[in-house]
Amino acid sequence: MTQRVTLIPGDGIGPEVAGAAVSIIRAAGVNLEWESRVAGSEALTRFGDALPADLLESIKRNKVALKGPVMTPVGEGFVSSNVRLRRALDLYANLRPIKSLTGVPSRYQNVDLIVVRENTEDLYSGLEHEVVPGVIESLKIITEYASTRIARFAFEYARREGRKRVTAIHKANIMKLSDGLFLKCFRKVSQDYPDIQADDLIVDNACMQLVMDPNQFDVLLLENLYGDIISDLGAGLVGGLGVVPGANIGDEIAVFEAVHGSAPNIAGRGIANPTALLQTGVLMLKHIGERDAALRIQSALEKILAEGSVRTRDLGGRSTTSEFTEAIIRSL
Ligand code: NAI
Repeated sequence: MTQRVTLIPGDGIGPEVAGAAVSIIRAAGVNLEWESRVAGSEALTRFGDALPADLLESIKRNKVALKGPVMTPVGEGFVSSNVRLRRALDLYANLRPIKSLTGVPSRYQNVDLIVVRENTEDLYSGLEHEVVPGVIESLKIITEYASTRIARFAFEYARREGRKRVTAIHKANIMKLSDGLFLKCFRKVSQDYPDIQADDLIVDNACMQLVMDPNQFDVLLLENLYGDIISDLGAGLVGGLGVVPGANIGDEIAVFEAVHGSAPNIAGRGIANPTALLQTGVLMLKHIGERDAALRIQSALEKILAEGSVRTRDLGGRSTTSEFTEAIIRSL
């Protein structure tokens, strides 16, 4: 039976990298039917909503989506479609594997860590208001329910994937109640996983430790905002945003998207690196049971990167998105 997958090409470089990922997945012989939907400003103009009901219905029906980046206006305008999507579908776990790739220039070799980010609350609840002119209040929501659920997800993931350690990252020395609750839930859940080492670190120290010696870490568990920031820091450890994949996972539905945004500074020039969204597609293929194709795509990608003659500009090369894509397809 053909598996149907919702495709959200997104804004900026989104259609360029999504097009590359789709053609490589097709070349690997996976029989998928892509149901394409728009989100963000285009959807707002066409349908009066940046996250149309039709898009949500498509994902609910198909249970899986591959998503390019969607632009969010800064300091004004509509609420992030990305944040709304994750909350509307209760995609509570954001999984971001940060792994070195041979041939990708970076400061470190052999980095292999997993960022697990809580995806539904924290300062992303969007509860902001002006108390009086010149004074804004932004509410950070942390619940026992969501903190326990994400901690359990991290430990289950660690156990399933043979990982040894989960480190919770927080600022509970200052935010004693909110981050304190997150940490308390983590410690409680950790007792159910005696086979996995559990420890914690204050977020500022964690940033320094990651930059000094990323190889000391295994699975990192973070609230929404710290997880967002540390994912990009992690991308910087292994070659940048052009290479790091991600997934938003709920109990029944998963939306796969790279860590990077719409990269307006390079959009439309055909030079974006499709590696991040391709590796995201590999995660998606494993999720839907297409393990063989996933491994073949991953090894074709790694071969091209390791050879180094076809490389996009963010990795120091001169190749275009389509030259890089064609090289992977030839290698397949
Ligand atoms: P960005 O990730 O779009 O770009 C940051 C830097 O990384 C830029 O220099 C860009 O050229 C580079 N870069 C990113 N992806 C790349 C790729 N595949 N190949 C080569 N270079 C790449 O972050 P920025 O500029 O902060 O955000 C732009 C827009 O994207 C904003 O509207 C933001 O809200 C949105 N965004 C959307 C996300 C999503 O849909 N999940 C995630 C992050 C940002």
